[in-house]
Amino acid sequence: EGANKGVAMLQQTLKDCHEQVVFGLATGGTPQTLYRLLSASQLDFSRCIAINLDEYVGLDQENPQSYAYYMNRHLFSKKPFQQTFIPNGMNRNATVETQRYDQILDRYPIDLQILGLGQNGHIGFNEPGTPFESTTHEVQLTESTIAANARFFAQSTDVPRSAYSMGIKSIMAAKQIIIMAYGKAKAAAVKKLVLGPVTTAVPASILQQHPNVTLIVDEAAADQIKKEKVEN
Ligand code: GLP
Repeated sequence: EGANKGVAMLQQTLKDCHEQVVFGLATGGTPQTLYRLLSASQLDFSRCIAINLDEYVGLDQENPQSYAYYMNRHLFSKKPFQQTFIPNGMNRNATVETQRYDQILDRYPIDLQILGLGQNGHIGFNEPGTPFESTTHEVQLTESTIAANARFFAQSTDVPRSAYSMGIKSIMAAKQIIIMAYGKAKAAAVKKLVLGPVTTAVPASILQQHPNVTLIVDEAAADQIKKEKVEN
């Protein structure tokens, strides 16, 4: 039902924007239901631009573990967009690639950004410690993120060690943000996101300072932010 809310919000953004609409999109397990519902919907994305958050360094779009492959599989093959962007993981020149991506972000300001939440509070691939002023950069993935994402690979040693990610400043520049988190593994990060101090140790905590954020959680992820449980 949380994903339905997400669909309704995308629909509203499409309605509100009369010209080109720019969506910032995320990968991972969390948005898969949202993409399934969007794929089955009547919504038309042909006047929309999609800008993805991140990509593994070293994986090309034919690689089933790449985020480019993921996006084609879960959304773009079913819902054509006018144009889609994702960092090029095959460009080993990080300076060139990150500057190229920042120019895309400057050219297409994001109307609605979809985010997942890492167990350690990361957004995109902005790991703890990433400066809030960061733009697109190459990230050395933490051991906990490698372990969390190993389920998508044959073995954990196959998980790339680095990724290109939009920075926190670029994420915060989106006009509206939806962050989704499901399952008990996310409960601690959700608590820090909502109630914790704003600190680079928890990248998602900066969202407290964004004027238009919607958090979509299930019961398990909300476990540590619920008021006292109601007793009958
Ligand atoms: C991954 C991605 C993030 C994602 C997060 C949570 O590492 N880079 O964009 O939001 O971690 O992933 P999941 O939804 O699979 O739990």
